[in-house]
Amino acid sequence: MTNNTGKTRKAKSKGLHRRQFLGGMAGVGLAAVGAAGAAFSLLTDAERNTAGAATNTATLTVPDLLEATTTDGTTTFTLAAQSGTSEVISGVTSSTAGYNQSYLGPTMKWTKGDTVLLNITNNLDDDTSVHFHGAHIPAEMDGGPQNAFAAGETWSPTFEILDEAKTLWYHPHALGTTAEQVVHGMAGMIIVEDGSDASAALPSEYGVDDIPLVLQCLASDTSGDIKYNLTGYLSGSLAYPVLCNGTNVDDTTLTFTATKTRTRFRVLNASPSDIITVQRGDGGTLTQIATEQGYLTSATEVSSIRLVAGGRAEFVMDLSDAVTLQAVVTTGWVRGGSGTYDFLTVTPDASDTPDDLPSTLNTIERYDTSSFTAREITLDQDGLEMAINGSVGTTMDSMATIMTTLGSSEIWTITNNTMLEHSFHLHDVPFQLIEINGEEPTGVDLGWFDTYEVVGGGSIKIAMQFTDFADDTYMYMLHCHLLQHEDEGMMAALMVMES
Ligand code: C2O
Ligand code: CU
Ligand code: CU
Repeated sequence: MTNNTGKTRKAKSKGLHRRQFLGGMAGVGLAAVGAAGAAFSLLTDAERNTAGAATNTATLTVPDLLEATTTDGTTTFTLAAQSGTSEVISGVTSSTAGYNQSYLGPTMKWTKGDTVLLNITNNLDDDTSVHFHGAHIPAEMDGGPQNAFAAGETWSPTFEILDEAKTLWYHPHALGTTAEQVVHGMAGMIIVEDGSDASAALPSEYGVDDIPLVLQCLASDTSGDIKYNLTGYLSGSLAYPVLCNGTNVDDTTLTFTATKTRTRFRVLNASPSDIITVQRGDGGTLTQIATEQGYLTSATEVSSIRLVAGGRAEFVMDLSDAVTLQAVVTTGWVRGGSGTYDFLTVTPDASDTPDDLPSTLNTIERYDTSSFTAREITLDQDGLEMAINGSVGTTMDSMATIMTTLGSSEIWTITNNTMLEHSFHLHDVPFQLIEINGEEPTGVDLGWFDTYEVVGGGSIKIAMQFTDFADDTYMYMLHCHLLQHEDEGMMAALMVMES
């Protein structure tokens, strides 16, 4: 417990957190909490006293919407991967990177049925790639390791949007450098829109009643050097800053004034490893409308939304009074952040009365997997090496390759042979959860996913159908979305061949 900077600091600065924190430390007095804070906090005594006296507020920054041009039926976006500086820890300048800016990237809006073209220039001094996480697109356009491009080059993928309304994201995916590049800020959201009745009925005015929330828990030393590998994580004296849309929320609660009674939030956990659970500070429910691969069959009241690294979800809130959203961070690696952060207070300033939500948002036919092809996937560890099906996937040659054919329907058992938490992610097609640690899924787990938690020693069964795209050169990836696990080899290739 004592190596836990974030939790201790929040426990000191906010009454609610203090109560929650002490609840988890039965019998340990407040003095002990203070002592832990003094030993591990990055704050000086003067700063700590200030933090204890008041919580800061700042206005929520909404990432820009990336402007596009449309000619001859093709919508063109322009992105540049570039380096810069940003305050990941308040008051400390970090070297960072982003798309078209110093940190994070603008939000892209794609529309189902459109053809998009992206001109992406690499202004970094290293190779990069840009992967469209969760998009159902050809392997050659997917932005995996085979699509890495060198400094100074421009990569221009083009594809038709087949996806229905959902929340995706984009980030680098070159071999061995994914964690480093993502934690320095290279991540952005993608909103896919469609013409469905559900989409028409839900809030969709970007930045007004449709709000992206990119949450991250990073690891940094006191000089602002962001860590991304085992050496860095074990270097000691680290802080675990929590950010929302690029702003540190360790001691700051962001504010958003809602000019509509109903607001839709799209949450992305872009952390390299930690799990982030979003909940209301007042204990109320969130109305979840979508998992990461589209709408649920109907809006579902949930007490919290647990997002493993790489995961997304959408929810709406109909507000008459202000509500504070909290991010509960659970460590996902050797060390990591943990604690409860009041990251956003939403204050309504609206008088409209929204229509009832549609009783049906989506039709999800559950797969009958009785005739599906079964496959076993193991998540393995041997010392510092991570592997899938026994192969350490640090190079294209060394990684396991799963061969399948276009049109095939499969049920995969993913077994975690390690004691560590993993976040299983599959490119190309969404999957349904068939079993989670031997239990049938319920509630929002009946939705569509591309990334799901596999606890240490646990297993999940997932089912999917490989539709639309085959290629005998370019491969999709499947991997752990704890980025350093991916870089250390917990990645395999998926080749979908023409049948
Ligand atoms: Cu978000 Cu293969 O990654
Ligand atoms: Cu992906
Ligand atoms: Cu992992």
